[in-house]
Amino acid sequence: LIPDELDPPDHTKYRALLNPMFAPGTVSKMTQDVRAQAVSLIGRLAEQSGCEFMGSFAKPFPVSIFLRLMGLPLEQMATFLKWEADALHSETMEPKIAAIRAIHDRLIEAIEERRREPRDDLISHALKARIDGRPLTQSELVGFGVMMFLAGLDTVSSALGLFFKHLALHPEQQADLRARPARIAPAVDEMLRAFPVVTTNRRVMQDVELSGVHMKAGDWVTIQTSSATLDPAEHADPRRVDFDRQNKASGVFAYGPHRCLGSHLARLELRIALEEWTSRLPLFHIHPGSKPLLHGGSVFGVDRLELAW
Ligand code: HEM
Repeated sequence: LIPDELDPPDHTKYRALLNPMFAPGTVSKMTQDVRAQAVSLIGRLAEQSGCEFMGSFAKPFPVSIFLRLMGLPLEQMATFLKWEADALHSETMEPKIAAIRAIHDRLIEAIEERRREPRDDLISHALKARIDGRPLTQSELVGFGVMMFLAGLDTVSSALGLFFKHLALHPEQQADLRARPARIAPAVDEMLRAFPVVTTNRRVMQDVELSGVHMKAGDWVTIQTSSATLDPAEHADPRRVDFDRQNKASGVFAYGPHRCLGSHLARLELRIALEEWTSRLPLFHIHPGSKPLLHGGSVFGVDRLELAW
């Protein structure tokens, strides 16, 4: 979120500005919109007896929410999906850079449109915002949009992929959610705990030694903090998914100043996806003969998940 060319304000000032846009009350007003996107994607599957879940739902669903929030046309879905895939999953740097540049340019275009004609979307709200009494610079506005894109899409897709893979392999738990939809919200929390997807990275600010490991100022470190939710000292039999587990609350959205801005939106998207799938489509399982394909990386997730029903 922090632009290079300014002496940036404290990160907490950015968060003070953005937090209200993603607070529980604001997010709950998005429920209808989020549900409409889920219903529209699932509607297309109702006539089928199976699908590749990632391409048919897990990837387009959060992108459709992002487009709605930013006031961008849903018709650009395929373009944004391609940019997302290139930016986050290319093996080489060139397509990554080209995709980020393309997102950057598309956001600048949208910012200019909203300056001329404000609407009820996040770009228009960000244009009205003030930090230290001044409006956000173009680079801060674009930084906000790119951050939303990078932080809010792959994470939700990955969580959906891992949740649905688990439910496909555990029909008794899927049947439980179908019979008692009120259990979907706690089930989301429990599956978030059991399947942490994000690995965080930090730059070392000063030379330090930690448990015999020397780190130098400027080094990058990868910190698997989210796997604390699999700590057997905190969670008995941590790999077991138990919707009745009491201490589901966990650090999957991290702690402190960089705690996930979109945690309430993420939970809403995951809950609604499960509610609509279980109420509209029959019990699903892994397509016979297929194998889910997973990937590692800074966001752990699923490449292919063939479901049948
Ligand atoms: C299951 C879904 C998600 C998970 C597991 C997740 C997890 C996380 C984690 C662990 C961090 C901390 C990263 C760090 O400290 O380096 C983070 C930060 C962030 N997340 Fe999420 N996230 C999810 C969905 C979303 C969504 C839907 C949005 C969209 C608004 C979002 C926006 C952000 C932003 C903007 C940050 C950076 C916050 C800051 O640096 O102040 N996330 N997320």
